[in-house]
Amino acid sequence: MGDRRGGARPPRGGVVFIAVGTPSRRGDGHADLSYVYTAAREIAAALDGFTVIITKSTVPVGTGDEVDRIIRETRPDADFAVVSNPEFLREGAAIQDFKHPDRIVAGADEDRARNVFAEIYRPLYLNKAPILYTSRRTAELIKYAANAFLATKIAFINEMADLAEEVGADVQDVARGIGLDNRIGSKFLHAGPGFGGSCFPKDTRALLQTAHDYEVPLRIIEAVIAANDIRKRAMARKVSAAFGGALRGKTIALLGLTFKPNTDDIREAPSIPLITALQDMGALVRAFDPVGMEHAKAILPDVVYCDGPYSCADGADGVVIVTEWEQFRALDFNLMKQRMACPLLVDLRNIYSSDEMERHGFLYVGIGRKVPSHALRL
Ligand SMILES: NC(=O)c1ccc[n+]([C@@H]2O[C@H](COP(=O)([O-])OP(=O)(O)OC[C@H]3O[C@@H](n4cnc5c(N)ncnc54)[C@H](O)[C@@H]3O)[C@@H](O)[C@H]2O)c1
Repeated sequence: MGDRRGGARPPRGGVVFIAVGTPSRRGDGHADLSYVYTAAREIAAALDGFTVIITKSTVPVGTGDEVDRIIRETRPDADFAVVSNPEFLREGAAIQDFKHPDRIVAGADEDRARNVFAEIYRPLYLNKAPILYTSRRTAELIKYAANAFLATKIAFINEMADLAEEVGADVQDVARGIGLDNRIGSKFLHAGPGFGGSCFPKDTRALLQTAHDYEVPLRIIEAVIAANDIRKRAMARKVSAAFGGALRGKTIALLGLTFKPNTDDIREAPSIPLITALQDMGALVRAFDPVGMEHAKAILPDVVYCDGPYSCADGADGVVIVTEWEQFRALDFNLMKQRMACPLLVDLRNIYSSDEMERHGFLYVGIGRKVPSHALRL
């Protein structure tokens, strides 16, 4: 707990941030709040003077009320306020995003807490980040609504990608064509293998559970979760189709294991169900990821882990790009081709184009573009 300094008589108390994990609870998809409540009890025991307890963890609506109740019960004498301050930073860009947020949301029900909050965030506010003051419950819902909306954009463009493949359109041009409309915006419109990571899957599930508890149907979020689950499984069929439907005995080189670049996080990464399904279909999987391999080894032991993209391609019947790491954006395809048994690239992130890859003598399959018929004849 930090002291606020600067006055003639420094006030006791201060501010405590709760930023502990809120993973999906096993079985029902509710957010597991045990870490938050443990932290609340620990904070209660240490309270001394007016203290603002700021919850940064992503927590369901009503959690602030429960934290308040736990502290009041543990320390009836305490002078404190509980504020909801959801965090919107992106994993892999945490410091930059924390310092330059689009907005700061403060769910505080009393003025004393708002004043302390404003004082803490003054440097960011001066940096032009607007502070949006709301009720505590509203702030809690804002976080889930934001993540659910972004997840919806991804699921939406992924379904458009499936349709584009069938009708002979290019989903990247579709994304650009709609994204240039300011009402829509271009972000989160990159078709790919489905969203993963530590936030979108768990937060959409938790939002759905909250809605069930209040008997409010959230059909859109239900569809987003279902479409994303189906998509992750469908990626293996897409790879298999690129091989003409026969994977038994084939060696597949997978580039990228983390759910996105610039993190070592493989929680709910699309690479996991993809690899498992490819192995079930009889393929031998080799893999390389710049930082995610240590975590992956614990979950996917039967993979040949390699020390670079080129060694990964050694003897492979095809390469699959799963994560768009910077170092996969300018691969030397002459070298790749020399090392591979068959020059086939399945690009689940649309880093490359079929024209470019054909010039390198590769068979190329991307996302949301018509699959070339020669790939299916392999
Ligand atoms: N990762 C992100 O990009 C991101 C973005 C926005 C919001 N969030 C939210 O922030 C929260 C934390 O996410 P994370 O990815 O950092 O989780 P994490 O699991 O990586 O880290 C949580 C940390 O809390 C620590 N912890 C647990 N109980 C504690 C206690 N009583 N006292 C002190 N420390 C304790 C754990 O040891 C762990 O280091 C989650 O609610 C998440 O939804 C995360």
